[in-house]
Amino acid sequence: MSSEHTMLLLPVAVSMALLLVGAVAATKTTTHLKFYMHDIVTAVPSSPATAVRVARAATPLPLEPAVRFGDVFVIDDALTEGPNATSPAVGTAQGYYMYASRTDAALMLSVNMVFTAGPHNGSTIAVLGRDAILDPVRELPVVGGTGVFRGATGYGLLRTYLINGTTFNAVLQVDMYVHARV
Ligand SMILES: *[C@@H]1O[C@H](CO)[C@@H](O)[C@H](O)[C@H]1NC(C)=O
Ligand SMILES: *[C@@H]1O[C@H](CO)[C@@H](O)[C@H](O)[C@H]1NC(C)=O
Ligand SMILES: *[C@@H]1O[C@H](CO)[C@@H](O)[C@H](O)[C@H]1NC(C)=O
Repeated sequence: MSSEHTMLLLPVAVSMALLLVGAVAATKTTTHLKFYMHDIVTAVPSSPATAVRVARAATPLPLEPAVRFGDVFVIDDALTEGPNATSPAVGTAQGYYMYASRTDAALMLSVNMVFTAGPHNGSTIAVLGRDAILDPVRELPVVGGTGVFRGATGYGLLRTYLINGTTFNAVLQVDMYVHARV
């Protein structure tokens, strides 16, 4: 091949390489993460409160008079591998939720899942959505992420695994289906 041909082919080869890089970069994989979230609204001997009410509103919910439309809680809930609080730590759920319905026990939940152990240590997943806490399964949108989850999309399924009727402390099962270039 003459050097002129090489010169002509070079830009073609470069653009094809760029296309390939683009295609590889656009490939996202789906990761299923399963863990448990400990929402401690009442301090117990084994844990301080990790959900703190910072705003108290005026109108009790019709079916849940203990809480009021407009109540806001800031959370830093432990995330663990298994449902038991003593099971290995995965990270924390940091953010807030507010009672955002005048009629139903429905939260607006805005939380960063901050991973502090395992393969995703140092990465986060941002979740923002409606959490109708009495529903058996709630779907929450993933709106982004950092680290290995940069640019993440996807969703999470939230289930109440346990709730204590006296303290209202809850253990939630979290299944996240995260699309990212992990
Ligand atoms: C959690 O684990 C601790 C220590 O292993 C155990 O004593 C406790 O019974 C467990 N709790 C539940 C609810 O399984
Ligand atoms: C998570 O990453 C931090 C920062 O790199 C490190 O200090 C810590 O030991 C790691 N934790 C685990 C459990 O691997
Ligand atoms: C609810 O929590 C209280 C305080 O920690 C505890 O004494 C009680 O046994 C719990 N109830 C159930 C059903 O686990």
